[in-house]
Amino acid sequence: MSLDEIDRIPSLLPQWVESSRQYCINGKVASYIPELSKAPIEALGIHLIDAQGHSMSAGDSDLLFTMQSISKVFTLILALMDNGEDVVFDKVGMEPTGDNFNSMLKLELVQPGIPFNPLINAGAIAISSLIAGNSPIEKSERVLNFLRVLSNNRSLAYDMDVYRSESETANLNRSMAYFLKDNGVLDGQVEDVLDIYFRHCSISVTCADLAQMALVLALNGKSPETGETLIPRRYVQIAKTFMITCGMYNASGEFAIQVGLPAKSGVSGGILTMVPGRYGIGIVGPALNRKGNSIAGVALLETLSNEFDWSLF
Ligand code: DON
Repeated sequence: MSLDEIDRIPSLLPQWVESSRQYCINGKVASYIPELSKAPIEALGIHLIDAQGHSMSAGDSDLLFTMQSISKVFTLILALMDNGEDVVFDKVGMEPTGDNFNSMLKLELVQPGIPFNPLINAGAIAISSLIAGNSPIEKSERVLNFLRVLSNNRSLAYDMDVYRSESETANLNRSMAYFLKDNGVLDGQVEDVLDIYFRHCSISVTCADLAQMALVLALNGKSPETGETLIPRRYVQIAKTFMITCGMYNASGEFAIQVGLPAKSGVSGGILTMVPGRYGIGIVGPALNRKGNSIAGVALLETLSNEFDWSLF
């Protein structure tokens, strides 16, 4: 951490959170998964950790929320570690779609009919079918354990209310998964694959958990505590590239211009991002903009990135 930032972040963060919080009123909490609609619309919290383990937080950083699409970064990494690049990129592409995260529009328009990338819903469902394990339960446990290691939090667990709520209402994801099965993209039983997907989306975290996971990516896969390689560098590179091109869905181009950091959002209002080599950052702000990203969270990141010249570009 540069001396200037050490001095300024702790004192400025609370006021930047409060000034960004005013945008919440222009956003909406996700309600297509009914349980998510209970989240507090005015909440905004942030946690930052640097490579030496110094941490800072402000606002509602203790709020528990589910990872939702943020988990897709890590299932992609685990699928790459389990299968290698050739197998994974036989099932999902490498390109942004420009469509909504739950769109199945392009699946019929291009050949082969594989999802455009692993961060849209169709792509993440295809990735769920590539996680190694002898049963759906074992596969889900491997994902949860991987995230427990990366977050350095052994008690990470599912929010079973959110899990059930999504599983009971996921007509669109179900139709997409059956379509993928028919196209030969999914291995295994469709409902088993969906169960793995719903479970990883419903893993409950705080901003500090996201910041810790992000720090491992910021350090190119090394544990901040021990220096041990938790993720091969190549797979971190792939994940960070997808975060830049598709991590904020069809607002990724705008986010790259305004903030310029690899990031991944979820419909619960979480954002995982990092300043490579320096910080892991976790944010929560359940009020979403029209593209499905935390409206106040994005505003807060714009302020931080501009103030400290964090953009990679
Ligand atoms: O499948 C879904 O719709 C949710 N479980 C995850 C979507 C999501 O987080 C998209 N984020 N912006």
